[in-house]
Amino acid sequence: MQNIIIETNHLTKDYKDMQAVSNVNLSVKSRRIYGFLGPNGAGKSTTIGMLLGLIKPSNGDIKIFNMDLSKDRLKILKNIGSMIEGPSYYENLSAYDNLKISAELLDLDDKDIDKVLKIVNLTKYKNKKTKQFSLGMKQRLGIAQALIGKPKLLILDEPTNGLDPVGIQEIRKLIKSFPEKFDMTILISSHILSEIEQIADDIGIINEGKLVFQNTLEQLRNSNPNKNLEEIFFHILKNGSDNND
Ligand SMILES: Nc1ncnc2c1ncn2[C@@H]1O[C@H](COP(=O)(O)OP(=O)(O)O)[C@@H](O)[C@H]1O
Ligand SMILES: [Mg+2]
Repeated sequence: MQNIIIETNHLTKDYKDMQAVSNVNLSVKSRRIYGFLGPNGAGKSTTIGMLLGLIKPSNGDIKIFNMDLSKDRLKILKNIGSMIEGPSYYENLSAYDNLKISAELLDLDDKDIDKVLKIVNLTKYKNKKTKQFSLGMKQRLGIAQALIGKPKLLILDEPTNGLDPVGIQEIRKLIKSFPEKFDMTILISSHILSEIEQIADDIGIINEGKLVFQNTLEQLRNSNPNKNLEEIFFHILKNGSDNND
C-alpha cells in the first residue's frame, strides 16, 4: 500500500458570507506529484494556507506525515518546503544572501546554499541583486528557498504564474525531477489544465470550494473515451464529477 503524505478530512473554511473550502478530503500519496487544479477563486490557496498552518480551518482536520497538524505543527512544518503567492525577497540583496537568511533561520550551513543554487541553476547569478532578476529567476530562487531545508514535502502555489513558455518549461522540468532525486512528495497548484497535465501523476480538481475529482491523471483521461482531457475537465467543472473513484 502506498504511503499517504497529506490527508484532509472534511476540511472546510468559512468566511463571513461564503465557504471558500467545503468538506475537502485530499489524499496525496508519497513520492507523487499531485496537481491541484481549479479556476481562480476555487479555493486552492485557502486550502494550501490551511495545510501550511497559515489559515485556521473552520472545520475538519489535516494529517501530514501521519501526524495531526493541530498537534504536531512544528514537527510537520519542519519537513515542508513551500512557495506561495510568488516569492518575496530582499531586493537589494543577492540571491546568495537571500538564501543565507533562510539558511540561518533553519540552522543550515553555507554548503546547503550552494547546493540549492546549483539545483535551480542560479549558481552563475548568485551574487546578483534579486531586483535585477527576471521573473523566472525569481521563481527559481523561490524554489531554492523552499528546498533548502531538504523537505520531504514541497507545496507550490501556482509556481509558474506569469512566466513565459520557456520559463514554465524550465520550472516544470526542475520540479519533475524532485520526487525521485530527493525522495520528495509534491503538491502543485494551477488554474491551467495543460500545466497540470504535463507535470502531475495524480490530480485533484477543486471548484467553488469543493473537490470534484481526485484520482490519477490517467484515470481522468480515460474517464470518457469520447472526450479529450479539456472537454472532460470542463464537463466536471460544469456538472461536478460523476466518476471520481
Ligand atoms: N481572507 C478572506 N476573506 C474572505 N474571502 C476570502 C479570503 N481569502 C479568500 N477568500 C475567498 O475565498 C475564495 C477562494 O479563494 P482562493 O483560495 O484564493 O482561491 P484560488 O487560490 O483557487 O484562486 C475566493 O472567492 C476568495 O475571494
Ligand atoms: Mg490562489
